[in-house]
Amino acid sequence: MDCPSDWLEPIVRVQTLSDTGNLIIPNQYIKPVSERPSLTMQLDGLNIPIIDLYELENGDPTTQRAIMEQISIACREWGFFQVVNHGVSGELVDGVREIWRDFFHQPMEVKQSYANAPKTYEGYGSRLGVQKGALLDWSDYFFLHCLPSKLKDHHKWPSQPPFIRDVTEEYSNEIVRLGKLLLKIFSINLGLQEDYLQGAFGGDDIGACLRVNFYPKCPQPDLTLGLSSHSDPGGVTFLLPDEHVSGLQVRKANEWITVKPARHAIIVNIGDQVEILTNGIYKSVEHRVVVNPDKERVSLAYFFNPKSDVLIKPATQLVTSTKPALYQPMTFDEYRVFIRTKGPQGKSQVESLKSPR
Ligand code: OGA
Ligand code: NI
Repeated sequence: MDCPSDWLEPIVRVQTLSDTGNLIIPNQYIKPVSERPSLTMQLDGLNIPIIDLYELENGDPTTQRAIMEQISIACREWGFFQVVNHGVSGELVDGVREIWRDFFHQPMEVKQSYANAPKTYEGYGSRLGVQKGALLDWSDYFFLHCLPSKLKDHHKWPSQPPFIRDVTEEYSNEIVRLGKLLLKIFSINLGLQEDYLQGAFGGDDIGACLRVNFYPKCPQPDLTLGLSSHSDPGGVTFLLPDEHVSGLQVRKANEWITVKPARHAIIVNIGDQVEILTNGIYKSVEHRVVVNPDKERVSLAYFFNPKSDVLIKPATQLVTSTKPALYQPMTFDEYRVFIRTKGPQGKSQVESLKSPR
């Protein structure tokens, strides 16, 4: 399906719905019973691994190897972990989250001037899928491109509050540094050349984009989700959570684990493209967001993606006679069309790439 040039039905800002104070949410936000947060099993007390990167670059070789091993286990067994002492200052992570919170608290006219369209998603949005009548999530967002430079357009970034562009730019540079480091570690851990994954992503031409999620308070949080279950389509995601309000849940077997973020932590998760490149050794894991009756939540999801037109396929070294290639090659551009037309749908896309056998 081709993307329409405009939304097929009027866009309702979830923040506006929340601000009305109405105690009943519209039907379009009510999830089928099986997807509602109250009715799925939740494992309390369990958390995703927390990995301290402090000595990764400066420690002695034994310590460095031990940290790399923790990362390796987290990638293979969880597909999700949080890093602390990642080199991005606490001031910057708090600063970028809070300036974006302030962005969403500006008058609606300010935000509307950045309203997005289905073709690129850049700007202020309130839905992912374009289909008319689709079930919707309880969130608004702002989506912008950071890399490649030719896609970065500061005019499409908000100009207010003051310094939001500078702070976002600085944060982006830091995440790109961290991202390149982790791609290197993943490559070494997989027994590949240290620049393998970066190369497979397109070398210096990788893509990077930011989606700032705003989850307004919700009067009926048991009936809806802030973000439906999905796996991230791209390469690797760096998520800056709201430290004050939990909401992110990660699927482990058939249950949901609520992530408890450590102070100033950045959550790292494997996306579908890395699942494909590693021939399924690392898996992109489903996750979702639950909302809250009396607290809003802000998070920044920074997506590290392959260049749009390089063919993504399992690394030759990870394909053997006992473990044949599990996925058919496809460019990231082709892959993305699915998410854009259908909205979040669990892991159905990456599963559909599995070669018939
Ligand atoms: C995402 C995402 C989780 C969150 O934006 O892809 O999974 O906690 N966000 O907002
Ligand atoms: Ni996600």
